[in-house]
Amino acid sequence: MTDHAPAGPVLSAPPAHCPARPGAVALGGLEFQQTPAQLYLQLRRAHGPVAPVLLDGGVPAWLVLGYRELHYVTTNDELFARDSRRWNQWEAIPADWPLLPYVGYQPSVLFAEGAEHRRRSGVISDALAEVDQFELKRHCEEVADRLINGFAGRGRADLMADYAHRLPLLAAIWMCGLPESQTADMVRDLTLSLDAAEGEDPVAAYLRVQQRVQALLDSRRVVPGPDVTSRMLAHPAGLADMEIVQDLISVIAAAQQPTANWIGNTLRLMLIDDRFAVTLSGGRGSAGQALNEVLWEDTPTQNFIGRWATRDTQLGGRQIRQGDCVVLGLAAANTDPEVRPDGHAGTGGNSAHVSFSHGEHRCPYPAPELAEAIAGTAVEVLLDRLPDVELSVRPEELAWRPSIWMRGLDVLPVHFTSAYVG
Ligand code: HEM
Repeated sequence: MTDHAPAGPVLSAPPAHCPARPGAVALGGLEFQQTPAQLYLQLRRAHGPVAPVLLDGGVPAWLVLGYRELHYVTTNDELFARDSRRWNQWEAIPADWPLLPYVGYQPSVLFAEGAEHRRRSGVISDALAEVDQFELKRHCEEVADRLINGFAGRGRADLMADYAHRLPLLAAIWMCGLPESQTADMVRDLTLSLDAAEGEDPVAAYLRVQQRVQALLDSRRVVPGPDVTSRMLAHPAGLADMEIVQDLISVIAAAQQPTANWIGNTLRLMLIDDRFAVTLSGGRGSAGQALNEVLWEDTPTQNFIGRWATRDTQLGGRQIRQGDCVVLGLAAANTDPEVRPDGHAGTGGNSAHVSFSHGEHRCPYPAPELAEAIAGTAVEVLLDRLPDVELSVRPEELAWRPSIWMRGLDVLPVHFTSAYVG
């Protein structure tokens, strides 16, 4: 899947074909990428907790900005359901619509509902729950050391491409039990399928990923190992191979982008904010604080599509029609002044944010804990190995990726004394 930047100015007028949503706002534009928090404030002032918005190509949707409204939507999954085939806009969606990779229905846990969702999600949770977090951290330390060794001699690096994007993917495929010998090919194809550059074929890469995961299932069926794949195969819920393949790919993809951006956004915060400078030279105490603060202020999955109304209803004073798309404004809800009048919720270890969403489809237990183990280890090892690491550009020159879905940096250029090579 790729990040797609919806073109057009922020707060632009709705197109003529959208009479039902007066004042609808096109999500996108440079201002949105750099300072989305301000846009959310403007939207909240203009529209209240639920704003009419336009997705790519002027397709209407609702953006939930309010913390309480977001809880309501995610808790009431029978009213706001996950299967995107419910959408009342499909006739207006072209075959090459850039958001299709996020919204197009797939027979995976992501779009399953009710009992079927509980069955699929339960298997994932049970399989992830047996991941030994000490083992995971130890493996992440090894991977982090190896990645740092790859650039430490240069004295400079792009911490996004060289580090933050690679570590979670390597950790996720290790948890799934892929043999070391296949790791490089798998990383290449997964990266292509998630984030293809111009001229590359994400569909062909995705098919190769499917084949590799099926081959992994075949080998684990013969010789089970202490890994997520073997546990999913042995689970009493009895998932079919195709279901396991789909859900394993969902787990790996769901782990990669948000955890990578969690690492990147945390390193950025620690490199630009004086409160963490002392820690950079003295110890590692505040990596956890920085990780938590990022979940409140610059959460990786800033908006998530979505939920679809199963019948006409009301939400935040808006009339929602059956089949309307509701986008979860996770970053906006985290900064909702109704629940954060002082604006400082993230600094005291409070974890009541909705960065992992909420309700039936939230990031499944114990994935947030595993993500924290991966991200925490990544940040700590880097600062430990490169204690004099500094940004190579001014903080305001750091550019955010052109995505309204993921909040993450394009590049994070740093330099350090290459004498610290391990
Ligand atoms: C080890 C790392 C991770 C794994 C294995 C993982 C796994 C998953 C899976 C399988 C889902 C689909 C749940 C479902 O539809 O029932 C999911 C959803 C989600 N995850 Fe994670 N995830 C990881 C890290 C993260 C991180 C770091 C964040 C953000 C800070 C995050 C935020 C979310 C969100 C917002 C959803 C959507 C929930 C919804 O539909 O309401 N995840 N994750």
